[in-house]
Amino acid sequence: MPHSDDTGSDDTGPETFSAEDEQRIIRDFRRLMFDRFVAGHGTLKTRWLGVEAIKYPTDLMMYQELIIRRRPDLIVETGTHLGGSGLFLATICDLIGHGEVISIDIRNGPERDLPQHPRLHFIQGSSVAPEIVAMVQARAEALGPSPEVMVMLDSDHRLLHVLAELEAYAPLVRPGGYLIAEDTHVKDHPNLPQYGPGPAGAVAFFLARHPDFEVDETCTRFMMSQNPGGFLRRRMPA
Ligand SMILES: C[S@@+](CC[C@H](N)C(=O)[O-])C[C@H]1O[C@@H](n2cnc3c(N)ncnc32)[C@H](O)[C@@H]1O
Repeated sequence: MPHSDDTGSDDTGPETFSAEDEQRIIRDFRRLMFDRFVAGHGTLKTRWLGVEAIKYPTDLMMYQELIIRRRPDLIVETGTHLGGSGLFLATICDLIGHGEVISIDIRNGPERDLPQHPRLHFIQGSSVAPEIVAMVQARAEALGPSPEVMVMLDSDHRLLHVLAELEAYAPLVRPGGYLIAEDTHVKDHPNLPQYGPGPAGAVAFFLARHPDFEVDETCTRFMMSQNPGGFLRRRMPA
């Protein structure tokens, strides 16, 4: 029977599922979505203003919430693909009249037909190349003494690359801000065990070395997320 607590919160509904059942259902559904994606059914693909993004709608909605909450001066996205996710981020920035997006991809050559938006800038190169990291740092510094920077890592998902990205971009994130390792659902979490060590492993290594970051579980409250355990928030100083 539904019940509420003294605070009037409505998040204490009937306990239909045990915690174990809940985790199993989420994992099974993630696997179903992924298997369908691999089979060509487009379950991981969305389109923003007609441009493809490889994102769940629930994650895009969460990014929108984070942008509204944090009002980033700069959003750094590694892994452009066709530009749909960058365009989404730039559009939300536009709606609040604040912020800009840098999207980095080794394939962002002139031959790529990427979407145009005044708040969206594309860089070609490896996200961990020192000159690319330096360009991003320079842009952040140009925005003020302590800009709010939000980082989304969605390029090469192998463990060592993601770990290098986490180390390179974490210093840009100020307390309360977000550093998001995407696709933590691969490498047997539960998808694609044959992939080899991936983003979830990188996050585990990173967190062990950086106690100033923590996982914000509220960012996966929609349950369907490509980034379980991947929404990292820099802790506020004690
Ligand atoms: C998963 S896709 C990005 C998806 C995109 N963010 C979206 O949501 O639509 C990964 C991209 O990372 C790029 N990539 C691979 N290795 C990279 C690297 N070392 N540095 C930057 N980009 C890389 C690939 O070219 C590819 O376009």
